[in-house]
Amino acid sequence: MRYLVTGGSGLLGRRLVQRLGQAAEVVGTFCSAPVAGLPLVPLNVTEPSQVNALIGPGAFDVCIHTAANRNLEACESNVGRVMRLNVEGTRFVAEACRRAGTRMVYISTDHVFDGAPEVAYTEEDDPRPIQVYGFTKLAGEYQAQRTGGALCIRVPVLHGVSQPDQQETFPTQALRRLRAGHTVPADDHLIRYPVLLDDLVDAVAELIAQDVEGIVHFSSDRGVTKFAWARLIAETFGLDSSLVRARPEGGRAARPRDNRLRSNRLAGLGIRPPTSIANATVSLPQSAAGT
Ligand SMILES: NC(=O)c1ccc[n+]([C@@H]2O[C@H](COP(=O)([O-])OP(=O)(O)OC[C@H]3O[C@@H](n4cnc5c(N)ncnc54)[C@H](OP(=O)(O)O)[C@@H]3O)[C@@H](O)[C@H]2O)c1
Repeated sequence: MRYLVTGGSGLLGRRLVQRLGQAAEVVGTFCSAPVAGLPLVPLNVTEPSQVNALIGPGAFDVCIHTAANRNLEACESNVGRVMRLNVEGTRFVAEACRRAGTRMVYISTDHVFDGAPEVAYTEEDDPRPIQVYGFTKLAGEYQAQRTGGALCIRVPVLHGVSQPDQQETFPTQALRRLRAGHTVPADDHLIRYPVLLDDLVDAVAELIAQDVEGIVHFSSDRGVTKFAWARLIAETFGLDSSLVRARPEGGRAARPRDNRLRSNRLAGLGIRPPTSIANATVSLPQSAAGT
């Protein structure tokens, strides 16, 4: 099996390249800067000539398309640029995959839903994004699905240990700040269902191995606010939980209150559910906490 991972320099892409590369041939892509030690090639997905040159017939069996702009605020203020990357770029990748006979896997988001409380969204529910990011990711799903046989995996906020040149994910940042005696401002209103990067990589590999097509939700089933999450981290590590301060998350982008995803498709596929927040917290590596 030969994989291509677009956005191989990103948070999820790096983990996909590293983990899938242990058992298969994997090429990742970067856009702005290569990453030392990773097999990455340059690619700007908004340039169809570059996409077509890389994804040719016989080049790859599977293309996992992670490249996107996922910053909610940047998406609101650069609509044209984000449409070009998240929608047009996905179209170029999808069309190249279709021509080359390459299977496409598209990483999507819970932000295709509006977050109405008390609802768990299944794969059959109609999406209703409420901010630019969600609209562009949903449009990307449509582009991917036009290839036929594509797999779209919708996931909530991801976490795990990042590399020093990357933006930290919430729990490692919170633990580092608590250890240093700094306050941790955290929203106590929005409910999230975080998934560990490694759990998602395992699920992606298994869904590909089982030739699953269409839309699949992969999410924790227990929700948490960032405030409660940071308090749990403080309590788990015997740190001062009063350093965690409630601060509403805000900005121009509308934020869904509660985007709980439920899957009608994962049961029976033997895919391990995501690690609970409590277990993931206990397993936070000391190296992420030291400085
Ligand atoms: N992180 C989350 O919590 C989360 C949650 C739900 C869904 N998702 C989805 O998961 C996917 C991966 O997210 P992530 O957190 O890994 O994102 P990320 O860390 O922000 O990485 C984005 C990747 O896209 C690449 N990229 C940016 N512009 C590009 C362009 N014009 N052409 C080609 N590549 C380009 C970046 O390359 P350079 O860095 O080299 O420029 C980087 O590798 C995204 O599709 C996102 O929507 C993420």
